[in-house]
Amino acid sequence: MRQFAGLTIIFLLSSLIFTGCNIEQKKQKTQEKMNMKRTLFGETDGNQIYQYTFTNINSMSVSIINYGGIVTHLIVPDREGNLQDVVLGYDNLQQYLDNNSPYFGAIAGRYANRIARGKFSIDGTEYQLATNNGTNHLHGGLKGFDKVVWDVEDFIFPDSAGVVLTYHSPDGEEGYPGNLLTKVIYTLNNNNELRIDYQAETDQPTVLNLTHHSYFNLKGQGNGNIYNHQLQIFADHYIPVDETLIPTGELNPVEGTLMDFTAPMEIGKGIHQVDGGYDHTFVLNNFDGNVREVARVIENQSGRLMKVFTDQPGMQFYSGNFLDGSITGKESKVYMQHYGFCLETQHFPDSPNQPAFPPTLLRPGEKYQTTTIYRFEVFD
Ligand code: GLA
Repeated sequence: MRQFAGLTIIFLLSSLIFTGCNIEQKKQKTQEKMNMKRTLFGETDGNQIYQYTFTNINSMSVSIINYGGIVTHLIVPDREGNLQDVVLGYDNLQQYLDNNSPYFGAIAGRYANRIARGKFSIDGTEYQLATNNGTNHLHGGLKGFDKVVWDVEDFIFPDSAGVVLTYHSPDGEEGYPGNLLTKVIYTLNNNNELRIDYQAETDQPTVLNLTHHSYFNLKGQGNGNIYNHQLQIFADHYIPVDETLIPTGELNPVEGTLMDFTAPMEIGKGIHQVDGGYDHTFVLNNFDGNVREVARVIENQSGRLMKVFTDQPGMQFYSGNFLDGSITGKESKVYMQHYGFCLETQHFPDSPNQPAFPPTLLRPGEKYQTTTIYRFEVFD
């Protein structure tokens, strides 16, 4: 934040010298404290879906709906203070319901990413999950957490505000054992951070891997592809996969490969030499249960910089490979291939079948608790 404040001050001072009148407009945009607005977004199966919009003192705002826990809008200042929506999505609920959204802005679960053939065993009992991605299970199945209605409570403090989303997933849902009580807390603060806290408890042993699936484009949603974004991922290894995107079980060094984002690299540099684009799990360095910075994305045109922090062991970098121009999203923007990227912090795919991977088993009496933060800054 200090850096952000520093950059903001430098920017404000230089603007003062060169464009005195602009400053006035910027001041008008900035508000004194966190603000909240709630509007009806639509209805599904007799449930009212609300859109909560929180705006911080820097005019950054996030809009979240209680269907799928979807972040529908994330409006972030650029280096000049201009606001743009940096996530892909739809304008209304009906489109999320009709268009088979590719998880735009949603919470993915119970198990985000893939489980081979949808099968795993716990204590000698085999479970069969819904298979919805060829022969595999993906992002929780046919009706995952991205397609359910969450209970919602809002909160607002001077420096932060957000929603607590709660969902009771019944025993057997999509094939998973155990009644699972899940809470996802989205918080926007005045440091331009969108923080996501995930919590869960079960009454039977089960597996769990929750993530957030926003498609970012720091130039503004629908404003072209992401090739010029410079990505840095603090990961010395990635997870090689078979042709159905199931891990082989190895962890490969990124060094000397197109997966080497240890120093910032333009996404466009290697994307055409990787089959269809990036859709890989990175093994994040320094996994010890604490939140640490794991990635940065820099976009020169806008001066936006996004930093990702998490306590998770892995992160799926997905470069919007399956977008193909068939989706018309917000403000009638057509989403072509590679128009957005996801940085999905999570456990490794297929962990329930990979004894060498960090475990994703949750037993009764244990608390699942993880945190991810997306922080926005600007640079000159
Ligand atoms: C994830 C997967 C991708 C794709 C997208 C949704 O990121 O890894 O293969 O399924 O979700 O389209």
